[in-house]
Amino acid sequence: MSSDKKAVLSWGEGKSAEFPVMSGTMGADVVDIRSLYAKTGMFTYDPGFMSTAHCRSSITYIDGDVGELFYRGYPIEQIAAHCDFPEVCYLLLNGELPNAKQRSDFVNIVTRHTMVHDQLNRFFTGFRRDAHPMAMVCGVVGALAAFYHDSLDIHNPEHRTISAFRLVAKIPTIVAMAYKYSIGQPFVYPRNDLSYTENFMRMMFAVPAEEYKINDVLVRALDRIFILHADHEQNASTATVRSAGSSGANPFACIAAGIASLWGPAHGGANEACLNMLESIGDASKVPEFIKKVKDKNSGAMLMGFGHRVYKNYDPRAKLMHETCHEVLNELNLKDDRLFKLAMALEKVALEDDYFVSRKLYPNVDFYSGIVQRALGIPTAMFTCIFTLARTVGWIAQWSEMIGDQDSKIARPRQLYTGSTSRNVSPIAQRK
Ligand code: SDX
Repeated sequence: MSSDKKAVLSWGEGKSAEFPVMSGTMGADVVDIRSLYAKTGMFTYDPGFMSTAHCRSSITYIDGDVGELFYRGYPIEQIAAHCDFPEVCYLLLNGELPNAKQRSDFVNIVTRHTMVHDQLNRFFTGFRRDAHPMAMVCGVVGALAAFYHDSLDIHNPEHRTISAFRLVAKIPTIVAMAYKYSIGQPFVYPRNDLSYTENFMRMMFAVPAEEYKINDVLVRALDRIFILHADHEQNASTATVRSAGSSGANPFACIAAGIASLWGPAHGGANEACLNMLESIGDASKVPEFIKKVKDKNSGAMLMGFGHRVYKNYDPRAKLMHETCHEVLNELNLKDDRLFKLAMALEKVALEDDYFVSRKLYPNVDFYSGIVQRALGIPTAMFTCIFTLARTVGWIAQWSEMIGDQDSKIARPRQLYTGSTSRNVSPIAQRK
């Protein structure tokens, strides 16, 4: 991990300090500045962690300049072509792809944890019917800690494993319950003879009066959405999970913190915001006018589903999602889908416009995922819940890795203080 390289910081009159440089297996080297304050009396200033590696990790790697993504060393294109979501979960959690026996054991355990404690149902009835489903999912996932006391010792590896199974298994049930509650339909209980994704679709769309017919093309499409959203190194919600977990908080609380962070429109909420944006543009003839507005910094308009902190090239997940979009729309005879055509027109204009080209702004995973989800019958307000479902496994893998890392410390950044200097409190009668 550490190399022979050193970085030297010089400041003031002839002052300098040396810092070790660490190398990973791929990607940029990092300067180990843990001794910076002791050696120099200074901190670093890096809002948004633009240049800060806040941990070491062996789970996911992104080459943002080229536009490549790897889960445990496997390119996302190969994973998307050859694996299903449970295999990806196994890979992220365990480091290796499962063989047939390991896969079947894993699926068996996850399947047997899909039901939630029956009293948890009552949490939903405490929410208003028009509550955003992300508010319900965030609250209910946090509440799991109140039900599963037997797996909260984060220092016990067996507890960590059982919590991981519970979260991966129960999150589809909770997401589907949030949806059913919001539309006033009864909850549909999980069925163990179905695959992970089939089961989720049935819990979302079946009603007691009518069984849900499973369509393999649509199941594969949703499974691909899950795969593409499963992990993405140190994004905002994952960093939030790690930060919450660094204090020793239980995994359910940490994942609830991640869900809260994911909800924002700059992050996982972008899929919902992107579809709302497409709806508000209306049709392809309005694209130039919208692009003009986005380029006007005073308008506050953004091209949702575009841009990324790490990808300065096409997000490889967006390419795969575009492919899936075609498959789903063909299957459903929606080849002329208005919003899909509009999205492609918007993408074409943006990719040729100097504003986006010079800033290296390309479509990200959320640009096409909303169109696929809408075609699957998932309402816009549920899009970020789907992202939550998929990302839960990544959050747990990252949380477990952090617990096992001896370098982990409570996340406690420093600041550049710009407030008042020391002053005295005057009696209230003398204050202006
Ligand atoms: C996800 O990090 C991850 O890995 C996240 C994610 C994951 O899997 O976990 O990939 C999932 O969150 C995808 C991103 C979804 N968000 C959106 O689609 C929302 C729209 N995108 C932007 O808000 C933005 O691009 C971010 C938040 C994604 C990235 O922000 P950065 O890295 O802080 O970049 P920036 O805001 O500093 O932008 C640089 C420039 C600015 O212009 P200038 O001030 O230099 O003139 O690009 C402009 C920005 O104004 N810009 C955009 C834009 N995104 C950036 N202008 C118009 N439309 C946009 N979408």
